[in-house]
Amino acid sequence: MESGGGLAALFLACCGLMARASPVSVPGCTLEPVRNDQRVKVFYTTSRVTSGCVGRGPTDPNLEIHVLNLRYRDPVKPREIKFNVNVTAAKEKRKTVFVVNSNAFSVLDVNAEDHHLAFLTTKHILFIKGPNKENTTDLPLSSEELLNWAKAYYGGVTSFTELEDSQKIQFQVGREPNSFEECIPESNFNAEQYLEAEFASDNTKSCLGSTEHPGREAHIMWLQQNPPDSGTQAVDLNIKVTCSDGNPANELSTLLVLKSHEKMLWNIDQTPVLVKFLVSGKYSLKKVASNLINGIALPDSKDGLIQEALGKDFAFIASYTEIPSAKSITLELVRVCAGKKTEVTTPPQRKVPELTNMVKELIRLCHPWRCIDNSIEIAVPKSHLQASPSPITEITLRDPTCRATDNMTHFVLKSIVDHCSTQLEGGIHAKNQLVLTLPLLPDKVTVPFECDLPEKLFLHLYQTPDFRSASTTTVEVNKVTYVQVSFQIAEENHPLPLQDCFLQIPGQTSPQMLIHSGIPTSYSVEILNSPSIKTRHFSFIYKAEEQWSTLPATLVCQVHLETQLHGHRSYEGSTEVTLKNPTFPSHSLRIGTVLGITFGAFLIGVMLTAALWYIYSHTRLTVKMQPVSANPPASESSSTNHSIGSTQSTPCSTGSMA
Ligand SMILES: *[C@@H]1O[C@H](CO)[C@@H](O)[C@H](O)[C@H]1NC(C)=O
Ligand SMILES: *[C@@H]1O[C@H](CO)[C@@H](O)[C@H](O)[C@H]1NC(C)=O
Repeated sequence: MESGGGLAALFLACCGLMARASPVSVPGCTLEPVRNDQRVKVFYTTSRVTSGCVGRGPTDPNLEIHVLNLRYRDPVKPREIKFNVNVTAAKEKRKTVFVVNSNAFSVLDVNAEDHHLAFLTTKHILFIKGPNKENTTDLPLSSEELLNWAKAYYGGVTSFTELEDSQKIQFQVGREPNSFEECIPESNFNAEQYLEAEFASDNTKSCLGSTEHPGREAHIMWLQQNPPDSGTQAVDLNIKVTCSDGNPANELSTLLVLKSHEKMLWNIDQTPVLVKFLVSGKYSLKKVASNLINGIALPDSKDGLIQEALGKDFAFIASYTEIPSAKSITLELVRVCAGKKTEVTTPPQRKVPELTNMVKELIRLCHPWRCIDNSIEIAVPKSHLQASPSPITEITLRDPTCRATDNMTHFVLKSIVDHCSTQLEGGIHAKNQLVLTLPLLPDKVTVPFECDLPEKLFLHLYQTPDFRSASTTTVEVNKVTYVQVSFQIAEENHPLPLQDCFLQIPGQTSPQMLIHSGIPTSYSVEILNSPSIKTRHFSFIYKAEEQWSTLPATLVCQVHLETQLHGHRSYEGSTEVTLKNPTFPSHSLRIGTVLGITFGAFLIGVMLTAALWYIYSHTRLTVKMQPVSANPPASESSSTNHSIGSTQSTPCSTGSMA
């Protein structure tokens, strides 16, 4: 007597399969806890909390103080807690402070509409996502001391809640306190007026690991709460089936055994297609019809419930869960769907995925990469990594030889775009990944990233036509200088013309053109074959008649592009060079200077002799003669300034944590 009228529709689709499925005895079905099993998970939401109370609030009537103690049975495992705050419209102006402590490393992911929220947390809760202010202090860990501390500090609290193993909290603030009493915690408190929390059941057992899957499975849930004295209470149930592998092939025939107090009303939404029900209380199937279906009486014991499933020929218990109290329940099933036979293979061990995700999230929030000039720069501030529960010992790019160095405050790395396995797409879009080593994790954590390089030209000078020896910044007069112009611009399939190149020499009014509108301006300039469409080569000889040894100058090249897509665009590249005239020895002195120094020394000699003669003739004292040196000034030093003037900026320093 498992089904009501509406169920016929569900079964129609499955008759063929049901006929084929023969009764299977499952001797090896031993129920084992499924804490780390990804194939069966049961989540439920409830307002029943470990302990809690509401109070008359702090002395300041424009303030709400909510104290939360988040306890976790496995405090070593870091976790992310979703924290949604809803505000009753009337009390939007009231300031709300959440005093939160936890025995585990936690990341609070706060989602609140514009509201005056502040959080007071301990070091355990290191990182609050969301637009809220955060303050940390040392808070007591025990609930009693935490509550007493808050009462003393604020003169009272609005609510206190201790939650165990909750991963998602929905909080309602802005209500008038309906208690004029002290907040005295009660265990198993119903916090319905302000809070609902989601829990992952740690009380689910399963046969999945112990035996081969027979092709049909039962799920048993026992909702143990007592309904209120008057009326009924509803619980929503959703069953989500996903495939770990391949497409859904044969649907498994499924039995749901839903045990509760008979006043409970089960609202069943999503289920597998081939499903039978054994429900105590009433139930409705959203997919089929909204009318209520009467259930049956089910036994009050685990063994009894399993016997019921066995009696319906479902000896394989894929999940058995006892739930203390719930408003909604979600059963998540991950099945291996590919292939005809449903084989249960052991999935790879879960490797602290929370920690991995947390570290990834931390790095993404910090956004430590920049594309500058023709390089990728990484600067990860170590202060931000304190939020990571495990130290990060090494950061590299995809190429493990490209390792960031530790400069005390940051992990820093600079790599030009052709190196470190950086992929370049569309000419300027650079892609690579950060690879982080954390001793706590067996695997490295990778965080892919991408950034756009600025569009510009790069100029490199060489003294030989092979363009291979080390580039130089010196242009020797009357010798050939070879120039490579590299285009770092978005157009990739366009042959790029070199339009104008010239030398700018300080003090000269007009630049010295080398190439004008793509044409060499003199026979000493030659446009050479280019190795690729993004590189151009040319050479030139600089001639000079004047008398100088070195001169600073700037070599500039410009490109103007006209495309349908982007219209008219201009790019420019420049590099500082030193013009050098070796026929005029740079360490000798100009004639005028030499003459001046010689004349100066002569004058000093004459005057000294005169002074000595004067002293001698007037005082007749013996004067010790000092040797006099007239050192000529040091040769003119040539300063070659070839900085490209990149704007240094420190990623992450701009406070992008919000
Ligand atoms: C509370 O806010 C969340 C989003 O922050 C929203 O999805 C939910 O519907 C709201 N609930 C109520 C009761 O207002
Ligand atoms: C380390 O590098 C970062 C980024 O380049 C810089 O902002 C910071 O000042 C450096 N720290 C020290 C101590 O040099």
